[in-house]
Order: sequence, then structure tokens, then C-alpha cells
Amino acid sequence: MSVRRLAPDEVQPASFAFSADNLAWAKVQIGKFPADRKASAVIPLLWRAQEQHAYWLPKAAIEYIADMLDMPYIRVFEVATFYTMFQLQPVGKKAHVQVCGTTPCMLRGSEELIKICKNRIHHDQFHLSADGDFSWEEVECAGACVNAPMIQVFSDTYEDLTPESFEKVLDAFARGEKPTPGPQNGRHGSEPLGGALTLRDLPFNASSPGGAAVAEKPKAKAKAEPKSEPVAETSSAAADLAAREEAEIKAKLATLAADATPEQKADAVGTKPKGMAAARDAKADKLQRIKGIGPVNETKLNALGIFHFDQIASWTREEIRWVGTYLSFPGRIDREEWTVQATTLAAGGPSVKE
Ligand code: FES
Repeated sequence: MSVRRLAPDEVQPASFAFSADNLAWAKVQIGKFPADRKASAVIPLLWRAQEQHAYWLPKAAIEYIADMLDMPYIRVFEVATFYTMFQLQPVGKKAHVQVCGTTPCMLRGSEELIKICKNRIHHDQFHLSADGDFSWEEVECAGACVNAPMIQVFSDTYEDLTPESFEKVLDAFARGEKPTPGPQNGRHGSEPLGGALTLRDLPFNASSPGGAAVAEKPKAKAKAEPKSEPVAETSSAAADLAAREEAEIKAKLATLAADATPEQKADAVGTKPKGMAAARDAKADKLQRIKGIGPVNETKLNALGIFHFDQIASWTREEIRWVGTYLSFPGRIDREEWTVQATTLAAGGPSVKE
């Protein structure tokens, strides 16, 4: 956090007053509070003053609002200098970039974003770029940690940034455009990349999209309960599911001819996942980073058109049954939680093997 001071006298305007529209708006805000609690309107009024004055608060505006709210100047200065949402000196005409540098954003790459600010805008924060269009500063948590790293430009936030997408956001501002705020990686909010990360080890409704988890009626669950087989390395719900499916699969496979091919066996118990003709950008993910997949099974999966973690992460129950049977280890995909591992890896997370 930097020391926050008013801008030097040479850039301070002699006076400040709300426009007619803003003055009418300010009176409405003040009227929302009891007469002896007018100070409660200080933050919205300071923000409106900042918006009116090219997104920075001159000393005259702070004093103007203090007079309007019958507050000592020092009280309003304290508010304006405390919150980094208030700018105290001129900022870039097209964008003032506030980069969150707090721990979650730092761990997700905010230092790379700051390097870009230093290269593209100015080596030091709070300085205008050569053309006066941009300025930047590092700020503390802006409350969007689930979409880290993020920046704020005026009233909008841009989240889930990479160096590349951040450059694109800056390019758009430089062209005089307003880039679409929010996550820049295709997310709509803070939902997990690659699908659900919870309820994945509960019984699934195979006909629901993506194999969405649904609760079974207790009675039906009790009936379907197989005689328990020992299952290790996983939660009891997943073990229960794996054991039950293994029993069902074994029963179905027992009805097939002895010389049935792996594909015929798999077709009898599940649905073949849709494969890709080739890896995206000719660069397959290293599927062996999933615990349980070795070189042989990686080759087999690639032959099925499975090249990427997100493909495995999106397998439905039917597809898990098909692949497990095809690879001759029904139930193991659940026990080793391939889809959960794949979801983590698809989102850039670590492998449990590393
Ligand atoms: S840590 Fe960056 S928004 Fe919270």
C-alpha cells in the first residue's frame, strides 16, 4: 500500500461544484439519511465527484462535499485518502488500471500483470503514460479473489486474466473501446473451469447432461446395494458406486460370448465417449499426470481420440463405464477419481503425482 497524498498544487483546480444533474442527485442521496446523519452520504458523493472530474478527486471537490455534508474537512480527507477507489491525482484519460496484488491474485499471476503495466504505461505507479491515456497502481484485494488475477478500471473489473488477455484489454482501451468487463477466460462467474468439482462421487443420473449428480431415493438405493467388495483409496460414496457398478458390469459381461472384443464388452455396459480427430493445436495433454494412467493406457486413450484433461473431466457415468470396461478395469476410474483429477489439471492445478 502506498502513501496516498493529494495532488500537487499546480494540478489542483481553483474550485469544484457539482453539475446541475449531479447536484440534484446528491440532494436525493443526502435525503436518504436523517438530518443529523448526512455524513453517511460521503462515499457516494465522493464517487460521483470523482466521476465528474475525470476520475480523480481534487482538494476542492473534497472540501465542497465536506461543506455539503457539514463535515470537518479532515473527516472527508480521511475517507478519500483511505479508500483506493478514490484517486487523488490525475489518472489516464482512457484507463487507470488498478492491479490487485494481494496474495490470491499474486499466486495467480498479478506480478506478470504489473510487469506489463511497467512496460506499457510507466515504470512507476501513479504516473501517466507518455500520451496521458493510461496510468496504473497496485491495490489491495478488490473482492474478486475467486476470479484472480484481476484488475479494476474505473467502475469495472476484468478478471481471470493472463498476460495475453490483459494485453488485449489494454489494446481495446487504447483504441478508445470499452472491453467487456468480467472474466476474460470464458467463465460467466466463478464457476469451476471444466465442470463441477463437488457431488461428483454421488450416484449419478446417467441420462442427465454431463452426468449430473442426483440423489437416489433411499429405498431404491438400499435395494441396489451389492454385497460389499473391498474398495480402497476413495470416499465411501465413491467406493459404494464403484462396487455397485462393477457388480452390474460383471453381470452384463457374463452374458457375452467368450471371444467378445474389448469394444463389444464396453458397448454392452456404457457409451463410447466422443473422441477428437486430433489434439487441439497438435498438443495433447500429458494424460499420465493423472494418477492411474500409465503409458499404455495413455496410448489407448489417444487412440480413442482422448487427448485432453477436459475431455476426461466431462465424461458421463455411461462414458466412465465404457472406458473402464474397454481398458479392462471397470470401477478403477472412480476409485482413482480420474475425472476429479482431470478437472483439477484442466484448470491448471497440480497433479496428485507431482
Ligand atoms: S486477492 Fe485479488 S481480488 Fe482478492
